[in-house]
Amino acid sequence: GLLRQEKEPVTVLVTGAAGQIGYALVAMIARGAMLGPNQPVILHMLDIEQAEEALKGVKMELMDAALPLLRGIVASTDVAEACKGVNIAVMLGGFPRKEGMERKDVMSKNVSIYKAQASALEKHAAADCKVLVVANPANTNALILKEFAPSIPDKNITCLTRLDHNRALAQIAERTQVHVSEVKNVIIWGNHSSTQYPDVNHATVQDKPVREAVSDNEWLNNEFISTVQQRGAAIIKARKLSSALSAASSACDHVRDWVLGTPKGSWVSMGVYSDGSYDIQPGLIYSFPVTCEKGEWTIVQGLEIDAFSRDKMDKTAQELIEEKELAKSCLN
Ligand code: NAD
Ligand code: LMR
Repeated sequence: GLLRQEKEPVTVLVTGAAGQIGYALVAMIARGAMLGPNQPVILHMLDIEQAEEALKGVKMELMDAALPLLRGIVASTDVAEACKGVNIAVMLGGFPRKEGMERKDVMSKNVSIYKAQASALEKHAAADCKVLVVANPANTNALILKEFAPSIPDKNITCLTRLDHNRALAQIAERTQVHVSEVKNVIIWGNHSSTQYPDVNHATVQDKPVREAVSDNEWLNNEFISTVQQRGAAIIKARKLSSALSAASSACDHVRDWVLGTPKGSWVSMGVYSDGSYDIQPGLIYSFPVTCEKGEWTIVQGLEIDAFSRDKMDKTAQELIEEKELAKSCLN
């Protein structure tokens, strides 16, 4: 018979795996939505002790789903064990803001979590491990992780703004009554927060500029932007819980395009470290338009930026600079 060579399994870590996004994400990964339908995976799931029982339950369900691509499951509350040999790390774990808490309280908790997990990844993960931070504040958590894992290449540490990117595509598709796959090249600039700037100046609908397809500039410059900026809050209001299936799906999109490449002629948005492109302060983790090839992202260069965009790109950069200062002060 024919010899069918099996691919080596890829080990994927999901932290905060007993949480909401984790519950949706691990199933998607194990069904091939992140790394493709022919790529076997080993899942490492980390959570804290208080969630140990729930994590065991998720492991039981993964077994019960009898998934052909899933070649191993490690469910652990031990960071070192969870990080061992990891090729891809998706960081969902973190401390959510509770009633009566200051932003700084959450920041200091998350800064210490990401500092500790950076060291564990550095020690135990594969040398070329790719990291996606989803937990909020996503850009600043990724920045802390980058600072405290100096042996992981800067290019391997990213944060999720693909959900915002997909939200922008969906809003334009609905407005123009086309399928979402016919909308391309929106950009999310900056922070995964309400200061993010969803930019349609280079985007197309059925290969036509968005500003031709949607003649209503008033809508594009106001309601469209605030709808995308506020979408996370709108989901929380409707579900009484933050987005989970869309966050998990977008995390799969992010890693898939990063590892397997972006389609010809289009780009995606990723939170990546700034090299000073578009005059964004170097070293910040900022969302840019990127193309990916052979497992590497590249910031799309040479896009024209008008005064309206410039102002919004700088405001969201300013917020990231402030978050960075706050994070630094928490470390002292
Ligand atoms: P959740 O509270 O349901 O789950 C978080 C899990 O993390 C919990 O199970 C918790 O026990 C665990 N955890 C806490 N500290 C940990 C630690 N030190 N190590 C490992 N695990 C730890 O939250 P969720 O709804 O799944 O959301 C996860 C995060 O993603 C939140 O911060 C949320 O705000 C963020 N989020 C980001 C985006 C984005 O687009 N970037 C979208 C949606 C949600
Ligand atoms: C989202 O964008 O859905 C999440 O970051 C949750 C939030 O707080 O908005």
